[in-house]
Amino acid sequence: MRFDIFTLFPGAYEGPLTESIIKRAQDDGLIEIALHDIRNWSTDRHRSVDDYPYGGGAGMVMMAPPIVEAVEETLGDDVGRVPIVLPSPAGALFTQVIAREFARADRLAIICGRYEGIDQRVTEILGAREVSIGDFVMTGGDLAAAIIVDVVARLIPGVIDNESLAMESHTSGLLEYPQYTRPQRYRERDVPEILLSGHHARIDAWRREESLRRTCERRPDLLERASLTSTEREQVKRWREAGANE
Ligand code: ADE
Repeated sequence: MRFDIFTLFPGAYEGPLTESIIKRAQDDGLIEIALHDIRNWSTDRHRSVDDYPYGGGAGMVMMAPPIVEAVEETLGDDVGRVPIVLPSPAGALFTQVIAREFARADRLAIICGRYEGIDQRVTEILGAREVSIGDFVMTGGDLAAAIIVDVVARLIPGVIDNESLAMESHTSGLLEYPQYTRPQRYRERDVPEILLSGHHARIDAWRREESLRRTCERRPDLLERASLTSTEREQVKRWREAGANE
């Protein structure tokens, strides 16, 4: 899979995309990441890419022409065929479901804004998808882009092992259960007995219940879409009633 990132700060990706698993995925030829400096498509001698907002207001807005031309020239016929993502705090929430959808494409373009935003016509002309990585505001889209690449890349077959993918948080619609490793006792805290039992069926049942308990406590919003057995739904109801009576 190929990622094309359009940015004003190519240096921002040093680190997040040049270490560890994402580095290895590139070395192994599983993914390719190309960084494009939007300023190279500026048309004036100051290399400007932003201007004052129509209607007034604080800050600067990134102009449409350098971005649209950078993307069209780089993607060619792939414009309209591959997803073009525009990280923005005003976008729809980026989730594992959306990541899986992006991972099915053979190419993904990401447009990063700085300043107070990007001219709306960029989204319209390129058919871009505005996505937010959470309900908070960052100084720009570059860290969000690095996160999106990381989340999508690890879904590409071969980037991480399949078992880790199947077991983790959000894949089942629930949060992940707690994990332990040696030492068995640390500062008077013991690893739960069941995990030492070697009884795989009981361990799986315990982990499932812990996932459910955590999700119920920390992210009850996820329970609506998670696939639960009727026994699990009843358990959730009991925990909620017990919580309400506290
Ligand atoms: N740019 C600034 N804040 C952002 C957010 N929360 N998600 C995506 N892009 C952003």
